Amino acid sequence: MPSKIVKIRENLYVNSIFIDKIGLSFNQFIVVSKDEKITLIETGFRNDFAALAENITSIGLNPENINNVIVPHFEADEMGALPEILNVSKQKVKVYAHPICTFGLNDIFNARAKPVKDNEIISIFEGCSLKFIYTQHVHQWDSLVVYWIEQKILFSSDLFIQKGEFTGINSENCITEIIASIHKDNYLPSHNHLNHALDKIKENKIDIIFPMHGSGLSNHIDLYIDSLKELTF
Ligand SMILES: [Fe+2]
Ligand SMILES: [Fe+2]
Repeated sequence: MPSKIVKIRENLYVNSIFIDKIGLSFNQFIVVSKDEKITLIETGFRNDFAALAENITSIGLNPENINNVIVPHFEADEMGALPEILNVSKQKVKVYAHPICTFGLNDIFNARAKPVKDNEIISIFEGCSLKFIYTQHVHQWDSLVVYWIEQKILFSSDLFIQKGEFTGINSENCITEIIASIHKDNYLPSHNHLNHALDKIKENKIDIIFPMHGSGLSNHIDLYIDSLKELTF
């Protein structure tokens, strides 16, 4: 499986694994503090953890220093590698998720995950305050997205996804690809839930969106949000 790690900012990397057969990339986001501790948003699949750890090592960081893990919902690509992380890390790993998700993570992995509240802001380190925004039923009942306040970056999990490899931050208009992906996989629920989530997301000033599948998005953020609100299923 081809995988790569891409530097986005001094303290932000994207690890991406592309699965040819389904034409989809799976992204994990690596936020690095000054003392080189790692906050991982999305774990990726359990079977892909070796590649993720290798890529983290290749940029001079150490998987043993993963000290925070954020799980946007209870699904294999979002939390599957958690037991491997708990095993490899030498830190007291804090796991953050929606209460329904933490219940599952604690029961299955003994993860001691911490439930976050809707719109709760947690300071990870100076310059990294993360706001957890519930997006229930989009597309799971424990779904949330994560907004990095200082960087105006939204880690949108399964919202705004596109087929194809991760190619960095795409400033072109990708709305056709985003909508095609929603229709093809039919993974989004009722308009009410989706619109409610989009309204909550829109309250934040967003410069970049990083979905967990496909490339980062910039320049057309309002258009993306408004277009999904007008979608018909
Ligand atoms: Fe998902
Ligand atoms: Fe996903």
